[in-house]
Amino acid sequence: MTAQLNPRGDVAVLVPAAGAGVRLGPGAPKALRLLGGEPLLVHAVRRIAAAPSVHTVVVAAPAADVEAVRAMLAPVAPVTVVPGGAERQASVAAALAAVPAGPDIVLVHDAARALTPPELVESVAAAVRAGHDAVIPVLPVVDTVKEVDAGERVLGTVDRAALRAVQTPQGFRRSVLTAAHEAAGDALTDDAGLVEKLGVPVDCVPGSELALKITRPFDLALAEHLLASGA
Ligand code: CTP
Ligand code: MG
Repeated sequence: MTAQLNPRGDVAVLVPAAGAGVRLGPGAPKALRLLGGEPLLVHAVRRIAAAPSVHTVVVAAPAADVEAVRAMLAPVAPVTVVPGGAERQASVAAALAAVPAGPDIVLVHDAARALTPPELVESVAAAVRAGHDAVIPVLPVVDTVKEVDAGERVLGTVDRAALRAVQTPQGFRRSVLTAAHEAAGDALTDDAGLVEKLGVPVDCVPGSELALKITRPFDLALAEHLLASGA
């Protein structure tokens, strides 16, 4: 059954899904790889569409797969699919350009974080709604972190207590994300980084271990296990 989005919702979710998945090894673009028999992108969109505030979902798909992705997602939720770009930032910009008038809150969420629970979408959106211009979900860093030089000699130990690992969805007041992308120069891996460059404060909310990014084969194996145990 197709999940209906909320016409009274105030949130648009952009889903960059146009990456190749090089680190996952040879095969289809990552968003189309299977997890429990379904593409990662289907898992991601199903969970986004289950978040009650979501008004619009725009997916940036690999350019060659736009029609296939439209057909694949039609039974999952009513989504807009646009061709992505060569870099993640270009894919996000393409999706942002396709958001209709209406939603004041824009979330950017990696298709690769396929098991992200709807509750995390809601908590990031709620923090933006409460007045924060930019919100990122974070987890504490568990490993000790060292800074090294080009020869792998340790320069020092970074204070772990002050570090956070950043996930998606990252949430923004729409005008702030639009301004950040207009001002963007060099490519960054996260949208909050663009907003920081504008001098806009970025605030953290607790992330979720289920929002892990499926990057390497180990992550896919872990996600298979989590899915099989009910995630
Ligand atoms: N992404 C995108 N457009 C790109 C590159 C990445 O939309 N040109 C998306 C990916 O599809 C993914 C998210 O950005 O959902 C995070 O990127 P990453 O995990 O690095 O995925 P890939 O770029 O596909 O993987 P790799 O870097 O291993 O090739
Ligand atoms: Mg990448």
